[in-house]
Amino acid sequence: MTTQAPIARFTRLRHATFASPDTERMLDYYRAVIGLGLVGRDKDRIFLASDSEQLSLVIGAGDAALTSVAFEISPDVELEILGVALKQSGLRPEFQSDPLPGISRLLSFVDPEGTRFELIQGWTPTPAQERIGALAVTKLGHVALRTPDPLATSKFCASVMGLRVSDWVEDRFVFMRSGYEHHTLNFVRAPMRSLHHLAFEMRGAAHMQQACDHLARHKLAILWGPVRHGPGHNTAVYHRNPDGHLIELFYDLDRMIDEQLGYFDPRPWHRDRPQRPKVWVGLPRDIWGLPPSPECVEFAR
Ligand SMILES: [Fe+2]
Repeated sequence: MTTQAPIARFTRLRHATFASPDTERMLDYYRAVIGLGLVGRDKDRIFLASDSEQLSLVIGAGDAALTSVAFEISPDVELEILGVALKQSGLRPEFQSDPLPGISRLLSFVDPEGTRFELIQGWTPTPAQERIGALAVTKLGHVALRTPDPLATSKFCASVMGLRVSDWVEDRFVFMRSGYEHHTLNFVRAPMRSLHHLAFEMRGAAHMQQACDHLARHKLAILWGPVRHGPGHNTAVYHRNPDGHLIELFYDLDRMIDEQLGYFDPRPWHRDRPQRPKVWVGLPRDIWGLPPSPECVEFAR
């Protein structure tokens, strides 16, 4: 069997773009809870960076929704040639110059279900204008989207974006990796495309404990966790942001550092040795922790 090379090869997850009915409320939340800092604004967008001076979120006005997800691509790729290849596969690539703080060139396209994917090549640090406090998460770790057809979507992501399948939960939840981390983009079966959850990385167990205390101080209910998942084996805690989006905080996500070996770095909590990508069937999937609350019911099946 021959596998055709993907059109593009997405590498690091970079930032997500949202619309919000109350952008100032979201700015407050991301500053005071998650620990991102304001980089700047233009007439209709707010730009937020992590403590590592990486652009992490872009928030504009509108009905609450995720509008685009940005990945970095290799500096060796010729963007114009990539644009031609995307066009030949029926997509409509768009080029932008200086579209965002720290980013000089950007190529984007809309996938068959309406999510815009942005490809970034090269960047400069975008420090926040203020001292970052609160949780000061390390980075945006992954984005999970709903899709009516996870199998078709996973094939699109493999052939167009170069993502690899890390795990399936039955035939309804697929975890895909763009680099060495178990997942940066997930898809869960649901009638329509929308955001399922957004996840920020924590430094470890002590940081996660601070996070739980911090969520409590802000009267944000923990809806699930702490729990150590099966797929990805991350320890995770979930709450909702003021726009109702499910936000995950996590650490200890599986890593496939040696892609050619095909298994995740051995960890004591793995049940399969070595831990290779697989289809998870039945419950319990999690290694430890209680089942999700009714508000996270999509995870419970
Ligand atoms: Fe997640």
